[in-house]
Amino acid sequence: STGADFVVVANRLPVDLERLDDGTERWKHSPGGLVTALEPFLRARRGAWVGWPGVADIDVDPFDDGDLHLHPVPMSGSELRQYYEGFSNATLWPLYHDVVAPPVFDRSWWDAYQRVNQRFAEAAAEVSAEGATVWIQDYQLQLVPAMLRELRPDLRIGFFLHIPFPPVELFMQLPWRTEIVRGLLGADLVGFHRPGGAQNFLWLARRLGGFEPSRGQVGVRSRPGVVQVGDRTVRVGAFPISIASSELDQLARTKEVQQRAKEIRVELGNPRRIVLGVDRLDYTKGIDVRINALHELLAEERISVEEVAMIQVATPSRERVEHYKQMREHIEREVGRINGEFGRVGHPAVHYLHTSVDKKELAAFYCAADVMVVTPVRDGMNLVCKEYVACRNDLGGALVLSEFAGSAAELTSAFLVNPHNLDGVKDSLLAALDVEEAEGRRRMRALRRQVLTHDVDRWARSFLEALGAPFAD
Ligand code: UDP
Ligand code: G6P
Repeated sequence: STGADFVVVANRLPVDLERLDDGTERWKHSPGGLVTALEPFLRARRGAWVGWPGVADIDVDPFDDGDLHLHPVPMSGSELRQYYEGFSNATLWPLYHDVVAPPVFDRSWWDAYQRVNQRFAEAAAEVSAEGATVWIQDYQLQLVPAMLRELRPDLRIGFFLHIPFPPVELFMQLPWRTEIVRGLLGADLVGFHRPGGAQNFLWLARRLGGFEPSRGQVGVRSRPGVVQVGDRTVRVGAFPISIASSELDQLARTKEVQQRAKEIRVELGNPRRIVLGVDRLDYTKGIDVRINALHELLAEERISVEEVAMIQVATPSRERVEHYKQMREHIEREVGRINGEFGRVGHPAVHYLHTSVDKKELAAFYCAADVMVVTPVRDGMNLVCKEYVACRNDLGGALVLSEFAGSAAELTSAFLVNPHNLDGVKDSLLAALDVEEAEGRRRMRALRRQVLTHDVDRWARSFLEALGAPFAD
């Protein structure tokens, strides 16, 4: 066939179709770290991207977006509810994030998950050239590797999980644990952010991945990093994802961004310190943790609103899922309370922006912020903290970072906090606000060394190399 040689399969395309009130439509950039990481890499290699266009009940023909070939996979309204909002984001998302919210197990959602995964597998089979490399992404598509192998045994198949892989005890709660493990074992390489996730998966593969001996097939054996499934070898490893560090570093140096950063300071009334949070509005991100910390510091008069201004960008996300609704109400009530209690005219305690900010504006926020607070209770990697570091070529700024973000393993010179220990978060926030210049520069230099030498290109190349794919360069 005359398909693509390099194919990414993800739930979402890198662009979302948006229907405006006047009935017109336009494409906008999709939210989240997955797209940030993969788009530049695939574009540079003229690959194809299979994904959902972001709107239900719509058929969009395949099209080219610059050097990228986009292959939309349609979804019905009920599939959107059951596969995306249901199984992906009310079952798997909370289960894989340490059951921070209780996962819902619903059999009809599982049916939809299988159906939609099959559709993605068929779309990938359709666009892939003979012997192509197909790279399947994330928790929404864990059955696709085995389904695709069934359709196209000639392909080289990789899978990467962008969220944490849970402890064995939690994964074992899943009624469909066996099907998921076997779905993933359809890949030649299964990648995780952290070695712990890879270890958990290896254990589960040994336990659940085998075939019925009565069918006369060989069972599953595994040793560190490798699972033997019959006559196939599946590799398993850790590949911590990153960002396009030097591009962002360059963007942050531009006059436009520097000018805008100055403007932001002025617009905030030139406070002594600016604190910044940037997250999808998700209950895993611990947005409430930092608002509580700020609240108590204000109540104890250890800081004042004239002195410290906080900006929280909260990007709308998964708004019809019940837990997200509750979370949003809770956060917005807390923001209202802290502003009502401590705000002065012209000086609210928290500048809360329920919106998505574009790259340049975000870079200006990063440059303007004296302290970036990233306090997830669980996060696979977390890219915004790496973006902050990449923007601070002035060696200014300080990062407060949760130990429960995957990035904490790399960013050890941050002010690391346990988000469950509010006193610890308060102390670290104060320490970051008052860090001595030399000490702050020392920390930022170390953080930058890590982020600039471990960029997304290196991540993608090391994954593809382990997969034995010809696209590593
Ligand atoms: N982001 C953005 N605009 C916003 C908020 C976030 O472009 O208003 C981007 C941000 O720059 C980052 C990504 O969204 O690249 C978020 O990735 P992260 O890994 O931090 O979190 P995720 O949303 O994937 O859980
Ligand atoms: C995280 C997930 C991605 C997802 C993104 C945005 O980064 O790992 O798979 O695309 O969030 O979430 P959404 O549900 O809007 O696609």
